[in-house]
Formats: sequence, C-alpha cells, structure tokens
Amino acid sequence: MKIIDISNIKEQKLVDKKLLSAVKTIKEGNLVVIPTETVYGLAADCFNPDAVNKIFIVKNRPYSDPLIVHISDLNQLKDLVVDLPLDAEKIISNFWPGPVSLVLYKKQTIPDIVTAGLNTVCVRMPELEITRRFIKLCKTPLAAPSANIFSHISSTELEHILKDFKNKKEIEYVIYAGRTKYGIESTVIDCTSKPFKVLRYGAVEIEKIERLCNIKISEPKNILKKKSPGLFKKHYSPKKTTYLTKNLLKFVKSLSKKELKEFTFVCDNMTKEKLYKVIANDLSVIPLGNTFEEIARNLYFCLHLAEEMNTKYIVVQSVKNVGLGKTIMDRLIRASENKWIYG
Ligand code: TXA
Ligand code: MG
Repeated sequence: MKIIDISNIKEQKLVDKKLLSAVKTIKEGNLVVIPTETVYGLAADCFNPDAVNKIFIVKNRPYSDPLIVHISDLNQLKDLVVDLPLDAEKIISNFWPGPVSLVLYKKQTIPDIVTAGLNTVCVRMPELEITRRFIKLCKTPLAAPSANIFSHISSTELEHILKDFKNKKEIEYVIYAGRTKYGIESTVIDCTSKPFKVLRYGAVEIEKIERLCNIKISEPKNILKKKSPGLFKKHYSPKKTTYLTKNLLKFVKSLSKKELKEFTFVCDNMTKEKLYKVIANDLSVIPLGNTFEEIARNLYFCLHLAEEMNTKYIVVQSVKNVGLGKTIMDRLIRASENKWIYG
C-alpha cells in the first residue's frame, strides 16, 4: 500500500501527475483509498463487478449492504439512474457537490453487487475538489464505502486507514488529503418514496434540506428501526466496551479513585472543564469541541483516540437530539450498541 500525499499540493498539474498511478490501478480493477469531505472511502470502478467484490472482501462487509456511487459531474448521473424526480433535482441544485446522497431508480447496467440486487442506486457528488478530479481522471463513477473494516469506526485521518488496512494487498494506494472537513458521513435520502425519507442522518441537517428545497422529508420514529440495508445496531464502534450517558458528571462522581482509572471519557469542552473542576485533572478525558459542527468533525477522531488509550471502557456524554445532533446521536447509539449508564 503506497501513500500519495497531496495534502500540501495546490497546483492542479502536479496533483494530476501524482494521481496518475492511482488512476491506472482503478482502471486495472484494483482498489484505492480516496479522500472525501466526509470520511475516507475505499474506491473501485463501479462498472467492474470483480473490482467491487474486492471492497466487500477487504472490509468484511455483508453483500446485503449496498454501496454509494460517487460521481464527478452530472453527465455521469445519466449513466446511473433512469428517472430524476423534480424534488431530487431541487436537492441536487442546492446541495451538490456536497455530502448528501440520493437513492434513485437505477439503470440495469450497474452491476448487482454495487446495489445488493436492489432496483435503486445511491449516488453522491463529493464536495472535495480532489475527489471529483480523481473520478474524472478515472473516467468512471467510483463505488466507495467508508474506508474501515465493517462495523469499526470510520476513518478521518491516515492513521485510521492504516490501523484497519495496513496489510491488505488489494489496496494499491491511499490518496491522502489531510483530515476530513465534516468528519462524519453524508446524509442519505430515499427519493423513491413519497414523501422522500431519511435513510441515514449525516453531515447535512434534514431541516436545512427541507428549508432550502421547500420539501418535506419523513424521518424515522425510532433511530434503531432498520430503514436502510446498511443500518446495523452495531456500527462505527470502538474495539472496547463503549457506553453513553446523559449525565457524565454524575457518573464520574459515583466512581472511586481506582475505578476512575478504568475509563476514558469523551465529552464536549464545557463538560470537560466541569469534570476537571469538580473531580481532578488526572482523568482520561477527550474533548470533542463546543458546537455540533465541531463535535461531528471530531467524533470519529476522538473515538479512535479513546480506543487507543490504556483504559478498559469508553463513556461518551450524549448531545441534544436536534439538527446535526441527530447525526451525532445516531453514530453514538450505534457505536455503543445503545448501552446507557445514568441515562
Ligand atoms: O460520506 C459518505 O457517504 C461516505 C464517503 C466515503 O462518501 N460513504 C459511506 O458509505 O458512508 P457506506 O457504504 O459506509 O454507507 C452507505 C450507506 C449505507 O447505509 C447503505 O445501506 C446506504 O448508504 N445505501 C447505499 N445504497 C443504497 C440503496 N440502493 N438503497 C438504500 N440504501 C442504500
Ligand atoms: Mg460505513
């Protein structure tokens, strides 16, 4: 696995030159880890079923979980879908390129392995320019799930990719473009139902899509009720027992000095300050930030850090279930398999 570092290169010609070998390997049916504005993706030519199959093998992903197809421009959309409802066009004109993925009726030419045999395909046009440039140079849309082993935490940094994939021969290159901007996956909207419905909360709030497009999108009543083939109860999970709590301060106060040493706490900056004031400052605490945007951006990064700490358990403070908070809570509920303490 070779790393192509373009994180500090600005000039298009130089970037293109650096990308050449990765483009070649995609055309030959191999895999490349690509940067996007949300999380890193593990990409293959979406029209090559053998190449796409390697994604499932490397990730240990069930074949029942369909992939998102990434496009560089609207011309490529024509090769993928049969019909574009007016309201989907509205979402596209407001949010593409950007972290919103749309499920639409698919063209027969897309291999079944990409869509888990469904008659629909999930498509997105990434905001990150380098991603679109790479897809354009490949001259084919790229099927790409998040670049992590199935059910593990998604990757927003190079070290996360290496943690899961270092020894995988099927991956020829990692295109590294720095830490990802949103830090959390795209929002997935099913455009084949009336009204459209949320399949996965993501980097763009549903309220914002409804407001800018003047449409109504239906939301799941119970976040854990399966709405999308890829929504599992255990997902985005650290490799150690993880709990959620509504009242971290109260929980921490209930622990003895000895017990405290077994935990890494993950919470917003204000809660961290309170913990240090009330308890002691030799606790293992990882601060997520202040705003929802910061918390979403840092969430996987901090869960990766917490996983690496020399402690037995992780406890994460929950956030308010509104706007981007819904996305953060969706990920935390799955990361912890909905295990709560004090809450
Ligand atoms: O931000 C993102 O979306 C990242 C980056 C790499 O683009 N990708 C990503 O892919 O999160 P993945 O495979 O981890 O998640 C794809 C989600 C799953 O929940 C899957 O079930 C859903 O999209 N999906 C894909 N195709 C679908 C379809 N035809 N119908 C319903 N859901 C679909
Ligand atoms: Mg994923």
